[in-house]
Amino acid sequence: MIPCEILVYLPFQPAVDGLVCDGVSVQAIASETGTPVYIYSARTIREAYRGIDEAFASFPHAIHYALKANSTLAIARLLHAIGSKADANSGGEIRVALRAGFAPADIVFTGVGKTRDEHEFAIAEGIGTINAESAGELDRIAAIARALGCEARVALRVNPDIDAHSHPNISTGLKSNKFGVPLEEARQIYRERKGVQGLRFVGVHIHIGSQITTAEPLRRAAEALVSLALELRDDGHALEHVDLGGGLGIAYEGRPMISPDEYAAAVLPELRRAGIPVVLEPGRAIVGHSGALVAQVVDTKRYPDGRQFVVLDAGMTELMRPALYGSFHRILPLKPRSGAEQPLDIVGPICESSDVLARDRLMPPVAVDDLVAILDTGAYGAVMASNYNRHLLAPEVLVDDGNWRIIRRRQALDDVLALEKD
Ligand SMILES: Cc1ncc(COP(=O)(O)O)c(C=O)c1O
Repeated sequence: MIPCEILVYLPFQPAVDGLVCDGVSVQAIASETGTPVYIYSARTIREAYRGIDEAFASFPHAIHYALKANSTLAIARLLHAIGSKADANSGGEIRVALRAGFAPADIVFTGVGKTRDEHEFAIAEGIGTINAESAGELDRIAAIARALGCEARVALRVNPDIDAHSHPNISTGLKSNKFGVPLEEARQIYRERKGVQGLRFVGVHIHIGSQITTAEPLRRAAEALVSLALELRDDGHALEHVDLGGGLGIAYEGRPMISPDEYAAAVLPELRRAGIPVVLEPGRAIVGHSGALVAQVVDTKRYPDGRQFVVLDAGMTELMRPALYGSFHRILPLKPRSGAEQPLDIVGPICESSDVLARDRLMPPVAVDDLVAILDTGAYGAVMASNYNRHLLAPEVLVDDGNWRIIRRRQALDDVLALEKD
C-alpha cells in the first residue's frame, strides 16, 4: 500500500505560534468567531479533487462530489468552480447544488427513500440521472415522468453482497443492508422495463460503503458493475455510464491508506472491459482532511482511579461521528503546554455518556480555556450536527490563499425559535 499520508496535503500543522491552517493562525480565527467553529482549507479540497481526477485521467470519467459529506454552499461552489459535478441525496441537496451553480444535468440523485415530491422535483428539473433503489421506485419514476410528459434518465442501484470491510454502520453493499436491489435480479428488472414510456436507462449504479480502506472490495464492486453493464449492453441498453459510487477512505489515524492512484489502478482494468465512461461519487476523500473543529476546554477533572476527563464546548451535537461509529479523530491543542503526555478522556458537554470524542488519548496537559482542534472533520462533521440540548450550529470558516471568511454564521437561538409557536 502507498502511505497516503505522505502524498496527501494536510492543512493543519503546528507552527511556532500555534496551530495554523494553510499558514493562517487557527487561534486568530477562533478569537474572532468564538468556539466551537469549523475551519476548512480550500487548498486541501482542490488538491484532493485533483488527485482523484488525475488518477482517472486515462479513462473517461466524471467526478460527482457527494454533497452529503459537506454541503455548505461555499464548499459546493468551490467544487463546482473546479469542474466537479454533484451527487445529491435529497431534494434539499439538489436545491443546494442548483444554488451552487451545478446544472441539473450534472447532478446524480441517489438515496434509498426518495419521496414523491422529491421525484417530481428531480424529474421536472431534468436531473442527470436518478439512481433508483428498487423496481418499485423505477415504476413510480416512470409514472411521474409520464404524467409530466417527459422521460426520466435513470440507473438502478445494485447490491452486490460485497463486504466493504468498513464500519457496519457505513457498509452498504451487503444483502443485509437496505440499499439497492440484489445483483442477480437487476438484469431482469432492466429487461422488464426496457422501452417503458417515461424511463430512459442511462447507467447502472453501485455503492458498497464509505471509509473503505482497501482496494479489493472496490475492485470487486467494479467487476460486478461492469459484468452487469456488459449483460445490459447485450440486452440492447445503450448505457452512457457506470456509476461506481463513492467510498474511498482517508487516513484518520495517519496509518497507510489506499491512495486515489491505487484505487484507480484497482478498478480501471475492470472498467476497461466495457469501456463505458465511469461516474465516481467521492465525498469523504475530497473534503475529509480539509476540516477541523476547534473547541475550547470548559472543565477538567480527575477521578480517584486516575481517569482524567477534559470537557469541551463541542461534543456529539457538533461532531457525531465518534458517538455514532466510535470513530477516531486526532485532537491537537492549538498551543501545546509542556509536560508529560497523559491519557485523557476528551468529552463533550451533552447529557449522554456516548458524548465522548476520544478515550484514553495520550495528550500533553490541557487546562480550562485552552483551545483544541479535532482534525479531519471536513466530511460528515458539520452536516450531521444537531440542536440537541439547544446547542446552536457552529459557524464555518473557509481559509483560502492566506485569507479566511465565515461561510456559515453561528446559528442564533432566534433562528431556532423562529420555527416554534408557544
Ligand atoms: C450513494 C452514495 N454515493 C456516495 C457516497 C459518498 O461516500 P464517501 O463519502 O465515502 O465517498 C455515499 C455515502 O455513503 C453514498 O451513499
